[in-house]
Amino acid sequence: MSRFVITTTLAAGLALGAVGSAQAEDIKQVYDFYCAQCHGVNGDGKGVNVTADFATDPRNFTVGAEMAKRTDEDIKGVIKDGGPSISKSPLMPPWGATLSAAQVDGLLGYIRKFAK
Ligand code: HEC
Repeated sequence: MSRFVITTTLAAGLALGAVGSAQAEDIKQVYDFYCAQCHGVNGDGKGVNVTADFATDPRNFTVGAEMAKRTDEDIKGVIKDGGPSISKSPLMPPWGATLSAAQVDGLLGYIRKFAK
């Protein structure tokens, strides 16, 4: 039993490590895949997924004045735990189980660059 647990943990760790480092190489790909359909490839909040019946518009990352109100920790927290974690819309999904800490850090930097 204990050998089984160790083997599967090791295998899962190796698989995650491989995926994590491959995706960390290109954070744009991560953003375009997971975020752009709502926040837009240019960060303007006009992703292809966003329709008139979206109760809350996805954040427009290009508005520097709004983004400046958020600390890096706020932004990482929303990415990991979703909108409701800071009393915002559940339309912003939690990504903590999908993305690695390195990817969340990368996305933070990527999003910050949209602000003019
Ligand atoms: C299904 C659509 C959708 C997807 C996909 C999505 N978001 Fe969001 N996001 C939203 C919405 C809607 C809000 C606005 C929530 C609010 O203002 O109540 C939001 C808000 C945010 C905020 C908060 C900005 C603020 O006002 O503090 C951040 C940061 C963010 N998203 C980052 C991301 C990242 C990074 C990804 C990809 C990993 C992502 N989002 C994917 C819909 C989405």
